[in-house]
Amino acid sequence: MAWKVGAALTAALTMGIAGSLPQDPSPQRAAWRAQYRAPEAIPFPENNPYSRAKAELGRRLFFDSILSGDRTRSCVSCHQPDLAWTDGRRRALGRAGGDLEFHTPSLFNLAWQDGRFGWDGKFRDLEAVAFGPISAPNNMNLGAEEAVARLAADPDYAAAFAGAFPEPGPAVTRERIEAALATFERLIVSAPAPFDRWIAGDERAITEAAKRGFDLFNGRANCAACHSGWSFSDGSFHDVGVGRGDDIGRGRFVPTSQALRYAFKTPGLREMRGRAAFMHDGSLDSLAMVIDLYDRGGIDRPSRSREIRPLNLSAAEKADLLAFLNTLNADTTLSVAVADLPADAPKP
Ligand code: HEC
Ligand code: HEC
Repeated sequence: MAWKVGAALTAALTMGIAGSLPQDPSPQRAAWRAQYRAPEAIPFPENNPYSRAKAELGRRLFFDSILSGDRTRSCVSCHQPDLAWTDGRRRALGRAGGDLEFHTPSLFNLAWQDGRFGWDGKFRDLEAVAFGPISAPNNMNLGAEEAVARLAADPDYAAAFAGAFPEPGPAVTRERIEAALATFERLIVSAPAPFDRWIAGDERAITEAAKRGFDLFNGRANCAACHSGWSFSDGSFHDVGVGRGDDIGRGRFVPTSQALRYAFKTPGLREMRGRAAFMHDGSLDSLAMVIDLYDRGGIDRPSRSREIRPLNLSAAEKADLLAFLNTLNADTTLSVAVADLPADAPKP
């Protein structure tokens, strides 16, 4: 995919000029800007191609409490469209009332993510996520077999499944529930933001402060080393110096790797207006606090990414960085997912 190639180029540029960085990095600006061009179509995997019937079924399932044991919660209980598909809490609310292990991530732009899902990569792909929350006793608390039986017993759903999956076999299966939900989730795409108008050539779309912030993001502050490309994520796992104690993230699955201790997935950075609190544990309440963390360089330890180091940003530079991040908020919160679903694979 073009934007991944772009990320590598940005990294090469940044490395090439390390040590001899000019006072004003704007000579690089044009090359950096070219890395953020918006994609032309939403990608769907070959084993789960787009169809309107599947997407509509997935949308219905996403909003329906039929998928929880006591019919009190659905995916949208935590992934709320007007909160950038998260829930406004530090950590997600468990069924028994306490906090779950992690902060609810935004669901924007997951179609562009190739790697594993979940903060610690516990899910193989997007399809594999669904029965994590559905079957977790302290979340939706519904076993896969019971979910299939419930939906099959509902004549409306049985017909919708048969329409969305014309292949022979039982209409409702676990795999079909997963495929329909993932098809809908791939439509959750951030709408064009002022930043995108600037990338497309409108110099007045964002302020000079935000442009300086963009230079910092790609240059001295090194954010683009991980928050790369149009969706601002490399889909990979890094220790940025946040987790503590037993909260070792990806390290739990790959205990032999030092670099993956305390490593969590790089989140995309669009639509952060509705997304506080931040980080996998919801430990930072504002973007200003996130910028301060990177300025300090997080917890210094052997697993910390080599891309992270104290930045010594001035107050003016922090303000510029924040101004830039705010240009990633779209003028509308509408995304393809909540519009009329198109017949053919939709455009962002
Ligand atoms: C109680 C709140 C809650 C509910 C209900 C919930 N989720 Fe989540 N969701 C979370 C949390 C917390 C995570 C992070 C889990 C992890 O990383 O292990 C998450 C992670 C995800 C991810 C991975 C995102 C990424 O960037 O890797 C997807 C996709 C997702 N949820 C979809 C769903 C779907 C589909 C449903 C309904 C079947 C659902 N969620 C129900 C809280 C919730
Ligand atoms: C080494 C890779 C890397 C670098 C460099 C990096 N980030 Fe991150 N970023 C991450 C990871 C990984 C997380 C999630 C960390 C966690 O939850 O523990 C994250 C989280 C964030 C979040 C929180 C988003 C959310 O949904 O909670 C913001 C905002 C952010 N980074 C902005 C920045 C900025 C601004 C810079 C530059 C000053 C930067 N990042 C540099 C990898 C990186």
